[in-house]
Amino acid sequence: MTQQQISGTNDTSNSYDDNEIVNSSSNAHMSDILAARLSRRQTLMGGVSATTAMLLGTAGLSACGGGDDPAPAPAPAPAPAPAPAPAPLALGFTAVAKNKNDIVTVPDGYQVSILHALGDPLHYGDESWKDNGSESADSYNRRIGDGHDGMYFFGLADDGKFSADRSDRGLLAVNHEYVVAPFALHPNGRTAGAARVASEVEKEIYAHGVSVCEVKRAASGNDMSMVRGSRFNRRITSATEMVFSGPVKGSALVRTKFSADGLKTRGTNNNCANGYTPWGTYLTCEENFLNVISRAAGDNAKRSAKEILGLNRYGLPENRKSPYLWETAGTDDLFARWNSSVTGATAGEDYRNTINTFGWVVEIDPFAPDSAPVKRSALGRFNHEGAWPAPAVAGQPIVMYQGDDARNEYIYKFVSKAVWDAKDVNGGLAAGAKYLDEGTLYVAKFAADGSGQWLELTFGKNGLDASNATFAFADQADVVTHCRIAADILGATKMDRPEWGAVNPLNGEAYMTLTNNSNRVATTATPTGSQLKPDAANPRYYEDLKGTTSQKGNPNGHIIRWRESGGNVAATAFAWDIYLFGAQADAAADVNLSGLTDVNDFSSPDGLYFDKRGLLWIQTDDGAYTDITNCMMLAAVPGKVGDGGAANAAGGTATIKGANATPNTVRRFLVGPKDCEITGIAVTPDGKTLFFNVQHPGEEGSLATPSSAWPASQTASASKARPRSATVVVTRKDGGAVGV
Ligand code: FEO
Ligand code: CA
Ligand code: CA
Ligand code: CA
Repeated sequence: MTQQQISGTNDTSNSYDDNEIVNSSSNAHMSDILAARLSRRQTLMGGVSATTAMLLGTAGLSACGGGDDPAPAPAPAPAPAPAPAPAPLALGFTAVAKNKNDIVTVPDGYQVSILHALGDPLHYGDESWKDNGSESADSYNRRIGDGHDGMYFFGLADDGKFSADRSDRGLLAVNHEYVVAPFALHPNGRTAGAARVASEVEKEIYAHGVSVCEVKRAASGNDMSMVRGSRFNRRITSATEMVFSGPVKGSALVRTKFSADGLKTRGTNNNCANGYTPWGTYLTCEENFLNVISRAAGDNAKRSAKEILGLNRYGLPENRKSPYLWETAGTDDLFARWNSSVTGATAGEDYRNTINTFGWVVEIDPFAPDSAPVKRSALGRFNHEGAWPAPAVAGQPIVMYQGDDARNEYIYKFVSKAVWDAKDVNGGLAAGAKYLDEGTLYVAKFAADGSGQWLELTFGKNGLDASNATFAFADQADVVTHCRIAADILGATKMDRPEWGAVNPLNGEAYMTLTNNSNRVATTATPTGSQLKPDAANPRYYEDLKGTTSQKGNPNGHIIRWRESGGNVAATAFAWDIYLFGAQADAAADVNLSGLTDVNDFSSPDGLYFDKRGLLWIQTDDGAYTDITNCMMLAAVPGKVGDGGAANAAGGTATIKGANATPNTVRRFLVGPKDCEITGIAVTPDGKTLFFNVQHPGEEGSLATPSSAWPASQTASASKARPRSATVVVTRKDGGAVGV
């Protein structure tokens, strides 16, 4: 979602930048203080890594191949006989031209259909979308929500269980990030006023969250449609009861009037990107939860200094009104709980801790529609964009890469304590408890020489304890709830807004988009407040003069990637380079560092996904190149870390870049409708059906003067229909695999 959308729904005095900067920590000196301790630890860990690498070898991953291959790989083991080499991946479609049309444009020979859009009923008994906002609030417990974002396709076997190989039938889990309120949900847009209308807020609460629906291929071809009325169809909303697990389970930090023992909570909110597990569950991640959480004036006087530090670091100062103002809709608990303020004698009598109940990874078992989702707190709390697994390998830990999407925030990695056992496929939430409740959380530090370190965020290590002068950590619950502060203290690298990650199934290298950062300043400037000079991993500073408005900093974003030391997913050291720099094709050479041309130039990468073949899909959520083109999706055949070399970025900072893009390695696959972002992607295991999401089409318009009529405009160009977020199915007319 973009800032314009939020401020457009709201009184500007409350407008909230979804990428608000709350990290003004000066952590460089802390890193000096810790340097001696860290270097000693790395020496120790480096020894472990070397040993592990010798045992497992880098062949462990490539021999395993596919992302979910459960074949056991006992170590030590003789080298397996080489499998027949697969045909090299090659892009096989004609690049789509940049355009500003109000449709999804796909290559010749491809076709699209709409799987589902905001308001579509999942079950029988609710009427179809009326296009006038008349649907009841309650019906959104059974309708597709708004703001489609991250998603995953789970193959569905005939016995109702997860099948990693099934392509013709599946369960599609889709995040509904937020309500694009003025355009579609309410009869006349959001009703103005200091207090919200209860029925509107109730509808918004149920239009957030996640949908799960069964999807099935047509009798012929590879197009898929939703199976209305399937027993698997389900909505999870901002009011659904769920439980805590991991370090914060039962902690004083998450006690509320709803759950005085801190075991339960309600709702998952602002679900942006996602993840999935090799055992067949969905991970949904809570990003811009500040959209809906307010805090009263005068609340600081009722809080400890430590609490105030934590609240401010997570963007919730006192007297802060959320853009959606849900708490103003009435005294009913459904609304009042969005006021994260001290009003009772104890935390069990009010909602002071609402803020601490969001920002987590939530695990959902799509195959068990009655199961309560679980907030997996060991993975940390921040503006959680997503959680992306490395390929599971028998005998090795489960690894999840994660990004905190705000300017100046961090990249994290979670390494499970338990090692992977393929018998846990279809183990549901019990398997989730085994792999995701115990493990080690790390944060990334990138060095200018192309090396990097994972810094451990464990209570009692690296100074993260009660004696810490910055923040007196009480226990691991405190560390994961305030892991931004822990990362500040350890001197993690402040990034240009980490969005999606993805791991290459062919070689185990991890990629992450850094969408843009308006907060970088020239190397010659004196930074003020939270401003930052460029560094090697976030190297560019320039002014984008191509758009309708000038944007400074790193307006076009980049994609960083890294290879773990020795190919060991649990390593604490890595090598990195910058895979691609977003840029306009006609930008200066030190801006267009990847040599993008008309067939592959893009700006503000956001969604990122490797399909099982190793094809990389890149999606954009942009405001810098949108004078020329709507947001888009590209397909890529990436190389590997180290296939480029040293470069000097605009603004004069030295960096390390990957090989230049060519039309054969990066190519534009589709362009979306007006004023949307392209986000969320899933590809069936056979590569023949691709799903992607169009979020907030027409966000620059209004009900009175709409700028888009998509998805109706996809087939009827004169349509006046309301724009709606939707999931799109892409197939090839000849029945072949997409992209190649
Ligand atoms: Fe919801 Fe960071 O995008
Ligand atoms: Ca957006
Ligand atoms: Ca995103
Ligand atoms: Ca974005």
